[in-house]
Amino acid sequence: MVSRVIPVDAFDIVIFGATGDLARRKILPALYRRLVAGQIPAESRIIGAARTEQTQKQFQASVAKALDEFAPESKGQPKIVTLFLSMLDYYPINTDDTKAWKRLATAVKTNANPIRAFYLSVAPSLFGPLAKGLADSGLADESSRIIIEKPLGHDLPSAKALNAELRAYFDESQIYRIDHYLGKETVQNLVALRFANALFEPVWNARHIDHVQIAVSEDIGVGGRGGYYDTSGAMRDMVQNHLMQLLCLTAMEPPSRFEPDAVRDEKLKVIRSLGPVDPADVVRGQYAAAGGQKSFLEDVENPDSRTESFLAMRVSIENWRWAGTPFYLRTGKKLKKRVSEIAIFFKDPPHSIFPDETVRDNNALIIKLQPEERITLYTTVKEPGPGGMRLIQVPLDMTFSDLHDEETVNVDAYERLILDVIRGNQTLFMRGDEVEAAWAWIDPIEERWRTKNDRPKQYDPGSSGPEDALMLMHRDGRRWRDLGA
Ligand code: BG6
Repeated sequence: MVSRVIPVDAFDIVIFGATGDLARRKILPALYRRLVAGQIPAESRIIGAARTEQTQKQFQASVAKALDEFAPESKGQPKIVTLFLSMLDYYPINTDDTKAWKRLATAVKTNANPIRAFYLSVAPSLFGPLAKGLADSGLADESSRIIIEKPLGHDLPSAKALNAELRAYFDESQIYRIDHYLGKETVQNLVALRFANALFEPVWNARHIDHVQIAVSEDIGVGGRGGYYDTSGAMRDMVQNHLMQLLCLTAMEPPSRFEPDAVRDEKLKVIRSLGPVDPADVVRGQYAAAGGQKSFLEDVENPDSRTESFLAMRVSIENWRWAGTPFYLRTGKKLKKRVSEIAIFFKDPPHSIFPDETVRDNNALIIKLQPEERITLYTTVKEPGPGGMRLIQVPLDMTFSDLHDEETVNVDAYERLILDVIRGNQTLFMRGDEVEAAWAWIDPIEERWRTKNDRPKQYDPGSSGPEDALMLMHRDGRRWRDLGA
């Protein structure tokens, strides 16, 4: 099935940090692909802004290179590449250079496009100064939207300070906080599955669900981001945002409508219902060296680092729906496989009418985001054949690939999210109070680690994490889903 493409209104997007990695890898290729899809009107303008002094031509040449690398299909599309490059402009900027702001403001204002988005693809310390610069140069009007991305603070006080800094110049309805996990196709499908079907909702609670596992595992290490990662760790880098968002969408009550504040109110309630975490319910790890590859400590160049590259934890949601159903979160670098999934494990049938047959596993609903997007319902059925009543568990596979043309399957989260900004739809973006609530829950856990100063456990690269993480589950009479499954 070919997906419907509804063009957005023409817009101007200014990308601060346009020469940086995120812009080259994600933002510019995303805009290019939406242009190819026919969703972006050609009168739109993409204005790069960064400290680097360069001309429009030089910027165009560097974007052409970025497309070659990160949207390689563009090599066979010379006409559309030319069109895309013609939509680009560039303005060098320093936050304290009033003349540069004036030039940028004049360029933006001379255009008739009513929608203006400002993507702050820069270090968070620049969010405030850029927001102020936009306001001082008259660019923060009602048509303006700003887009920012994590780290959105590193604890509650810094997140509050950041929110206050932005809200001094922009209304909350103009601030788009990206969590790229919310732009993934299957994440939205989870919402459709839960709330567009009558089938799941009646069993979506502690009476019927034994436990939930949310896993985001990666097979790569921290790469060249050691400096950042050592100040962050898996908790701040992954749990505070991506896993938290997956947990919220899995656990939230039905919003009255699929509208920004209705959805975000429900997510906020989930975060505020999270119980304090018992230290015995957390396992932290650091990957060891192996096969000539560096250990975590070597990668972050800090032999004394207490930062975790792996985290497994048991989390409780203290409300009527979920009391008694643990949520297990697991994330880490250099694990067995790159997998992101939410696994819902249902309880045993109340009574087995098959006394001679052990049902091997209970029903489980696996919502896989990566590497492939798929929803699978494990069901117990009779083993085919005349040999009596033997039970086996089979996957009822709800792969949606037949529904999608290849292009839809490959739509990157940034394509969807950037266009949502242009449409003015905040549903898939985090509200300031959600971010603060997540930090409020995490801060005491981080604080405990800081005071105890324990070394995270070592684990082998390519494994499923430290042994202790297995114990965490065994102790509860459960087991982790195989990351390779
Ligand atoms: C980023 C983290 O937010 O998400 C990275 O900072 C991580 O450390 C990445 O690698 C994972 O994203 P994805 O979409 O590849 O699962």
